[in-house]
Amino acid sequence: METIQTFTSELSILEISYLVASVLFILGLKKLSHPATARAGNLWAAAGMAAAILFTILFHQKEGQPIGNIIWIVVALAIGSFIGWYASIKVKMTAMPQMVSIFNGMGGACAALISLMEFPKMQNMLAAEGVGNMLGGEGIAILLGLMIGGVSFAGSMIAFGKLDGRIGDIKHPVLRIVNLTFLVVLLVALFVILFMEPVAGNNLPIYLFAIAALIYGVTFVMPIGGADMPVVISLLNSFTGVAAAMGGFLYGNQAMLTGGILVGSSGTILTILMCKAMNRSLMNVIIGAFGVAGAAGTEAEDKTVKEISLSDAAVLLSYSQKIYIVPGYGLAVAQAQHLCHELDNLLAGKGVEVKYAIHPVAGRMPGHMNVLLAEADVPYEKLVEMEDANNEMGNTDVVIVIGANDVVNPAAEDDPSSPIYGMPIIKALDAKNVIVMKRSMAAGYAAIPNNLFYHPKNRMLFGDAKATLQKLVAEIKSL
Ligand code: TAP
Repeated sequence: METIQTFTSELSILEISYLVASVLFILGLKKLSHPATARAGNLWAAAGMAAAILFTILFHQKEGQPIGNIIWIVVALAIGSFIGWYASIKVKMTAMPQMVSIFNGMGGACAALISLMEFPKMQNMLAAEGVGNMLGGEGIAILLGLMIGGVSFAGSMIAFGKLDGRIGDIKHPVLRIVNLTFLVVLLVALFVILFMEPVAGNNLPIYLFAIAALIYGVTFVMPIGGADMPVVISLLNSFTGVAAAMGGFLYGNQAMLTGGILVGSSGTILTILMCKAMNRSLMNVIIGAFGVAGAAGTEAEDKTVKEISLSDAAVLLSYSQKIYIVPGYGLAVAQAQHLCHELDNLLAGKGVEVKYAIHPVAGRMPGHMNVLLAEADVPYEKLVEMEDANNEMGNTDVVIVIGANDVVNPAAEDDPSSPIYGMPIIKALDAKNVIVMKRSMAAGYAAIPNNLFYHPKNRMLFGDAKATLQKLVAEIKSL
C-alpha cells in the first residue's frame, strides 16, 4: 500500500512526468477527433503512456526503495508490446471491433487484478491496526476497481465471441432476471465487504466477489444482440476507464487517474453519440429491439425493383456534374474501398465532382467509413458529414449507395412503425438519380426492408461491391 511519500527530486520528476503524460493524453484525444490528425493523436497519447511507464520504472519509490523486478517488468512489456503490434498489423479492418473488444477486456482484467492483489495487503494492514471495517477510501477504490474491471473483462470477452460469430445471442427472458439478480448480489456484496471486520488472511470474500463480477459480466452481455456489440464495447470501454481510474486513486498515480477518467468519459460520450445517431436509448440497445420489431415496412415486398446495366450506369455517371457516394458496411465487407477511390478519380478526371456522404453510424464501428476510405487514400476534404451532404442532395445528379442500407432507408423519416423511425438518414432520394450497389434485396443491420430500392428514382446494380466496381470502372474507361 502506498505510504505518504516525502518530496524528493525523484518524486517531483515523476510527478512532472505524470503531468506531461496527462497533457499528452488530452492533446492526443483532441487530435483523434479529426481524421487528418487522428494518426498523430494516437502517437501523442502513446508517447504519454510510454513516458508514464518509463518514468515510473525509473523514479517510482516505495518506502525509499526503487522499483524491483525490473527483468520481469521488461519481459512482460516486451511480450505485451509484441502481441499488440502483431495483432494490429494482422487484423482485418472488418475485425477491428473484435480487437478493440479484446484489448478493452485486457484493460478491465488489469484493473481487476490490481484490486485482487491490493485487497489482501490492505486487509492485513487494517487488521494489524485493529480498524473495525474497510470503509477507508482505498477499500472503496479496490472493490469498485475489481467489480467494474471484472464486469468489463468478462463482458468484453463475450462481446468478442459474439462479434466473431463464436457465441450466438441468448435472448431468453429468464436471463434478464438472472442478470438483475447478479447485479443486486454484487452491490450487496460490495457493502457487506466494506463493513466487514478485517481479518488477516481472510481472502475468500474478495475471491467470491471477483467471481460474481465475472459472472455478471457474462450475463450482462449475453442477451444483447450480436449486432449491437459496437455500442456495448464502447460502454464496456468506459467501464474499463473507470476501473483504471480506481487504480489511479489507489496508487495516488495522476497519469493513471487522468487516463482512466479520459477513457471513462470518452467511452460514455461515444456510447451516447452512437445511440443518438441510431435514435435509440441505451436501454433499448441493452434489451435489444432491432430485428425483432417484425412487420415494419413489409409492404415493400409487393413492389418491383428496377435494375440498371453496367453500360447505362457508366454513361449516367460519366455525364453527371455532381455525384455523392454513400459508403456502408457492405463496402467494408467487400474491401472495395480502393476500387471506389479509383472510380472517384476516374470520374473526377472527366470533370465530375465526386464526394462521399458519411453517416455517423455507417458500418459497424465509429468512424468506420472514414478509416476505410483513408486506407484507400481518399482525401479527407471529399468526406462530407451527413447534414452537410443532405443540404447538397438537391443539386446532386446521382447518389451511388455502395453496400449501405439502413443509413439511406426512408422508413426512418416516413414510417412511424419502423424500428429505425427518427434515425437521421442520408437523403439519397433528394438527388435526381440513385444507384444502389448490393448483392441482393437482403436487409441490413436493422433487419427491415428498404423502400428506397423500389422508388422510381432508384436503380439497383446487383453484385458484390468489389466485382461490380471493377466492371463499372472498366466500362467507364471503355467509353
Ligand atoms: P447495413 O444497414 O448493415 O447494410 C449493409 C448492406 O451491405 C447489406 O444490406 C448488404 O446487402 C450489403 N452488403 C454486404 N456485403 C456486401 C458486399 N460484399 N457487396 C455489396 N454489398 C454488400 O449497413 P449501413 O447502411 O452501413 O448501416 C449500418 C448499420 O449498423 C445501421 O443500422 C447502424 O445503426 C448499425 N450500427 C452501426 C454502428 C456504428 S458505430 N457504425 C454500431 C452499431 C450498429 P446484401 O446482403 O444484399 O449485399
